[in-house]
Amino acid sequence: MSLKQHIDLEKLPQHIAVIMDGNGRWAKQKGMNRIFGHTEGVSSVRETVEACAELGVKHLTMYAFSTENWNRPMDEVSALMKLLLKTIRLEIKTLNKNDIRLRTIGNIDALPESTLKELKHAIDATAGNKRMDLILALNYSGKSELTRALKNIATAIEQKTVTVEDINEAMIDSHLYTAGIPDPELMIRSSGEKRLSNFLLWQLAYSEFYFTETLWPDFNKEELYKAILSYQNRERRFGMTSEQLK
Ligand code: FPP
Repeated sequence: MSLKQHIDLEKLPQHIAVIMDGNGRWAKQKGMNRIFGHTEGVSSVRETVEACAELGVKHLTMYAFSTENWNRPMDEVSALMKLLLKTIRLEIKTLNKNDIRLRTIGNIDALPESTLKELKHAIDATAGNKRMDLILALNYSGKSELTRALKNIATAIEQKTVTVEDINEAMIDSHLYTAGIPDPELMIRSSGEKRLSNFLLWQLAYSEFYFTETLWPDFNKEELYKAILSYQNRERRFGMTSEQLK
């Protein structure tokens, strides 16, 4: 029986962030190369997107390529870029059919031209969709996002459009790639690693973390339901005491 029926739809996280990890290890276990793991990982992306949209999650952010991932072997980077291009091209129709808007966070201008072109096309083609935002973190890292925000704020001060006194959390929020998107209530990482890996450093300040041993290509709808149920069984205190919340 599916765990889906146990989910309290009134207490659904509005934003889920996912670190998709373990593609390489999954492939190695099967005696295949790492790229096979990434290719198989796309089915898990599809399942997760579908499950989130069906439940009514409003924003889903997936860490697809970090600024540090450029350091991987060249053939793997190139295969990941091609896979991204191919997946986006194949999925535009389904995204539109399901009213899902594709967005990105990260410095996408540094992606290969062909991937960037396909990506921009998909972003434009899905821009009017309202059911859920699928946000791909591409050439993203939390530290580079914060550095960019600080530079932009410093420039605004230099140009005297704002003053130091104007700086507050809301202003910093507005200079991040995620401006206008609520912070994730739940962050899921697959493959048993318990690290943040430079993902959404500011935005995850109060998120609940869920770690599963499942390698990304084995992640599926039931795994997602498990993570949401774990989230729903936790008490989010935001610095207060249990008694204050009652
Ligand atoms: C981590 O596994 C995975 C990635 C760095 C890439 C994730 C990409 C995909 C699932 C495919 C494309 C995605 C989209 C959105 C179309 P790893 O290689 O770090 O695994 P390992 O830790 O076992 O080596």
